[in-house]
Amino acid sequence: MNAKFKVVLAIVIFAGGWIMGSSNNVAPVITSSMDGASYSGGFQSDDSIRAVPKRSAQGNIHLVNPGDSIQAAVEAAQPGDTIRVMPGTYSETVYIDKDDIHLVGVIQQGERATMDGLGKLNDAILYSGNNVVIENFRITKYKGNGIMGQAGNNFEIRNNVIIDTGIYGIFPQLGTNGLVEHNVVSGIEDAAIYIGMSDNIHVAHNEVFDNVAGIEIENSRHAVVENNIAYNNTGGILAFVTPGLPIKTTEDVIIRNNFVLDNNTANFGAPGSIVSGIPAGTGILIMAADDVIIEGNIISGNKTAGIIVNDHSFATTITMDVESDPNSDRTMILDNVMLNNGYDTIPEVTAVALTELHTGLVDIVHVGPSNGSCIINRHRYRAVGIGNYGECDFTNTDSTESYLLAGGAQPRVIHPSERGEIAYLGVCTGCHSYTGRLIGPSVQVIQAMYAGNPEGLVEYINAPVKKRDNFPEMPAQNYLDAETQMAVANYMLALEK
Ligand code: HEC
Repeated sequence: MNAKFKVVLAIVIFAGGWIMGSSNNVAPVITSSMDGASYSGGFQSDDSIRAVPKRSAQGNIHLVNPGDSIQAAVEAAQPGDTIRVMPGTYSETVYIDKDDIHLVGVIQQGERATMDGLGKLNDAILYSGNNVVIENFRITKYKGNGIMGQAGNNFEIRNNVIIDTGIYGIFPQLGTNGLVEHNVVSGIEDAAIYIGMSDNIHVAHNEVFDNVAGIEIENSRHAVVENNIAYNNTGGILAFVTPGLPIKTTEDVIIRNNFVLDNNTANFGAPGSIVSGIPAGTGILIMAADDVIIEGNIISGNKTAGIIVNDHSFATTITMDVESDPNSDRTMILDNVMLNNGYDTIPEVTAVALTELHTGLVDIVHVGPSNGSCIINRHRYRAVGIGNYGECDFTNTDSTESYLLAGGAQPRVIHPSERGEIAYLGVCTGCHSYTGRLIGPSVQVIQAMYAGNPEGLVEYINAPVKKRDNFPEMPAQNYLDAETQMAVANYMLALEK
């Protein structure tokens, strides 16, 4: 046999192995995402047209000029009124506890109404009313929240620029039917956009960068996250369950057509907080969330992995909750563009990769059990841990425009007997869980300290003093009225799970 023939034979054997399908080289299933079925699961609204929350009345316009107080205008306003805030600097906390208030910054020649917390104030804008619209503000240097919703339904938070502001940038908590769009949020030490315990949410066209977490869908259901750009965060887009909160699931989330780029910023979250466990270099993270669809995103340059799907055991900073299913079930990965992810990953991902003899880049990693997950065109990705993913029987989500409710949600009406519960859910659970540490200590720890002493607890939340070296300061809750404070103290102390 001459030398030339030997080479040809070797090539034939090699090619034969490839075509016949050795264990590593199964002929790929190629699915065109240009056609094929649309996703038919998920929340079914009667009418999928984008909802614009209805105003109960068309009211008056209140003008706020520099030197005036925005809060004074809110107090003077009736439901249905619009408050226009002229360009200038305002250093205050605004609390909206009425329905149907539109708080709108006026932009003139690029100048915005700027709320400046001076590094001293906790929150810029808090609202508990329904049908609240907050638009066009620039918010900077607050310590707690930029914009926080506390149990209001039908909210719209649009076109705000939030820079270097505390723990959460935009944080609607316990709201149904809300839109968060066209905001720019950066420099937040927890989540730039944090959807907490909410339903029917649309997060679109936002830019989030230089935060620990970019966009976070947490203990929430029926959310679409689309057309956002998340870059230079520690983690770009996250859907997960925080254990120990009263709502135990995150499900039915569509993450589509986002740019998720270079989320490699070193984690600067408060030590012990859940997000402090996110490895730098995380593109999209799905943790204990079910029915999540990932479609049409451009995910590149995230050094740990492009998409991480895992169970709660992955997060070392989490205290388990027996009532939360720790697994991510029915993750559905459609076509995405994934490039150069996982180039400098963490040992946990390397370990999974090694069990599959995979070395090098990692676009997708699944850790932990999973039921009913699927993918199309898996050959496109450098993926590990997805051996039990089936082929999806749909290729797109075109039939779901949004999960918003066309007619709006019923405004939440809080009966006096529910005051403590709603304040607990809408306010305290942003930082306190029953079982483990979040931003603040667990409710169990607090119960041990204040058993039989709701008055003492009220005193503390009115004027918190810094107690624990390894925790941030707690923001004063003195905007809540005295009855609500006592109700929430009693509720927190009586809580059993
Ligand atoms: C923005 C986050 C945040 C929110 C919202 C929040 N807390 Fe806290 N809370 C903290 C932090 C952080 C600490 C620990 C502060 C320290 O040790 O200096 C704390 C501590 C406490 C303590 C312990 C006090 C002590 O004597 O050690 C109580 C009681 C408490 N919070 C009650 C509440 C209640 C009630 C609510 C809701 C009305 C609430 N917190 C909302 C962050 C928050």
